[in-house]
Amino acid sequence: MLPDQNGCLAAGAFSSDERAAVYRAIQTRRDVRDEFLPEPLPEELIARLLGAAHQAPSVGFMQPWNFVLVRQEETREKVWRAFQRANDEAAEMFSGERQAKYRSLKLEGIRKAPLSICVTCDRTRGGAVVLGRTHNQQMDLYSTVCAVQNLWLAARAEGVGVGWVSIFHESEIKSILAIPDHVEIVAWLCLGFVDKLYQEPELAAKGWRQRLPLEDLIFEEGWGVR
Ligand SMILES: Cc1cc2nc3c(=O)[nH]c(=O)nc-3n(C[C@H](O)[C@H](O)[C@H](O)COP(=O)(O)O)c2cc1C
Repeated sequence: MLPDQNGCLAAGAFSSDERAAVYRAIQTRRDVRDEFLPEPLPEELIARLLGAAHQAPSVGFMQPWNFVLVRQEETREKVWRAFQRANDEAAEMFSGERQAKYRSLKLEGIRKAPLSICVTCDRTRGGAVVLGRTHNQQMDLYSTVCAVQNLWLAARAEGVGVGWVSIFHESEIKSILAIPDHVEIVAWLCLGFVDKLYQEPELAAKGWRQRLPLEDLIFEEGWGVR
């Protein structure tokens, strides 16, 4: 199909099979902590996932992301230790039964997954004034999150599990990976093949928190109006 004189291609709804595939990826994507298989991911597959991430929308087309691929066990071990320290602090923020439940949860797959990707946001990319980011500086971070979600959905279609780890002091991870000051860590992602996934979010399955009814979250024309 050739683009028209404005560079546009014909668009329209996908076929029903294609639509079903997209919704299946969305509905069956899970955050994975423990189901990782040890086989390394082929380089071409990793390239496809990064390609999907790089297709994400970004404010002013800023593309503020970088992807630091971490395969070495030694580095992942250091990051896991940083997680472990922060996770102990996190547990102390809950009390009683909730704390016991928190401690029973596995909240990372840093050592088990064969690949980690540290997704970062360069807050200076594109210069001091970026189109669309003029009134909310956070938009570069939100853009980077879009890249993570693209990767996560593409990974589901590829049979690759992804787990997002955020429990650590950012400064510790920045120092392990020599990430400069103006670059912020958005996500530590653990990746590996999986042959099974939880049917519902693991936190729901384990009784931590349930999915909210969608209808409670939708307002009409103004806040609180149903
Ligand atoms: C910004 C963000 C940070 C997250 N950080 C963690 C984390 O540190 N550890 C963890 O086990 N899961 C983490 N998760 C995964 C969520 O717990 C998970 O997405 C949620 O429970 C819903 O489950 P699902 O992704 O399987 O649908 C994070 C998810 C997001 C979007």
